[in-house]
Amino acid sequence: MAHWQSLVRDLLGHVKSVGGGRPGSFCNLLLKVRDPKTGKPLTDKQMTPEIAALFFAGIDTTGHTGTWSLYLLSQHPEVEAKIVAELDAAGLLATPSRPEPRRLEWADLNKLVYLQAFIKEVLRMYPPVGVGQVRVSHTHDLRLAAGRLVVPRGTLIWVPHHAMHNARHNWDEPDSFRPERWLETPGCEYAQRLPMPREWYSGWADETADAYFGGEKGGGAEKEERERKSEEADGGEGNKADADDAEEPTTSGSAASSSSSDRPKRYFPFAEGPRNCVGQSLAMTTLPTTLAMLLARFSFGLADSMGGAVGVAKREQYTLVTGVDGGMMMHAVPRPGVLEGRAERLRSQKAEARAAAAAAEAVAAPAA
Ligand code: HEM
Repeated sequence: MAHWQSLVRDLLGHVKSVGGGRPGSFCNLLLKVRDPKTGKPLTDKQMTPEIAALFFAGIDTTGHTGTWSLYLLSQHPEVEAKIVAELDAAGLLATPSRPEPRRLEWADLNKLVYLQAFIKEVLRMYPPVGVGQVRVSHTHDLRLAAGRLVVPRGTLIWVPHHAMHNARHNWDEPDSFRPERWLETPGCEYAQRLPMPREWYSGWADETADAYFGGEKGGGAEKEERERKSEEADGGEGNKADADDAEEPTTSGSAASSSSSDRPKRYFPFAEGPRNCVGQSLAMTTLPTTLAMLLARFSFGLADSMGGAVGVAKREQYTLVTGVDGGMMMHAVPRPGVLEGRAERLRSQKAEARAAAAAAEAVAAPAA
């Protein structure tokens, strides 16, 4: 910890010594922050944990998701085959006839639909922030489900992401790693079966949002935006039948509408509410990009030293992030064509270098 703190302090010292760093960079912005009470800049002591938090929040989370992704692929060759087929169809896979696939473009990301579903399923099974989010209302009691549930002011509410993502009452076959569930079920983030009678959910979305945003802020444009997002997540009108068909313990058939906004969420890898993850869009860009580029050229196998899936399960650990004690040892196996392509590239680079050297020599020593 002391080493880590001294690294962050050194980084801050460096940024200051070069005049505040690149405009718009995190450190640059942090140096411009003024304490609203005193009008003074933040002290080093105040800035250090902010920088450390961004490092941890931005790197460890995405890194561990990458680790679990490669591990799960090594255990599910049928899933890997589908990702490989998707990359191949997009011209992004290295093959013997195409050892140098084209570069991944921004526009490709949304088209890699199966890869995106795969990442969602990885984040379901192994959410990096597995221990969850903690919320507390300091100002008022929270009244949910038309007053049926009251959470007294000051109560610490712990939302354990890993447990909720893997609970049997929330998911069908939670232990099955199935990216397909995200493609088959629009609004998969929302509970498909309601654990409480349907009438409890009447006005659920508004009340829970008001609990987060407060009555005032919960209305108007923000409310409309939430409703629009919820409609989108729901897959529009089409998904309403899906909610109606959901197996529920109620007999009342009361008035609640059946859009996903009336159903509680069961998936929170990036947390919820105003303090949710600020880097989620970045993460959902870097993860598919990195995985697409790695998987285009390599297949990954679990090292024998890990002791198979049982060995990995024994070493799973839930600290600040969901990880594996001692790290995940894997073999990267080049796909057919990759090594040949690399050898060919080296040959042509060497030939170019020789030709350039010969040309330079000819210029330096013109024929007498
Ligand atoms: C797979 C990747 C990621 C996951 C699963 C993830 C998850 C989360 C979660 C669950 C929280 C909320 C914690 C809480 O409510 O107590 C959070 C907060 C945060 N995340 Fe991420 N994160 C990821 C990537 C990133 C990246 C790439 C960045 C930045 C480059 C980032 C920056 C942050 C920051 C600064 C916060 C604190 C926000 C605040 O307190 O207001 N995260 N993240």
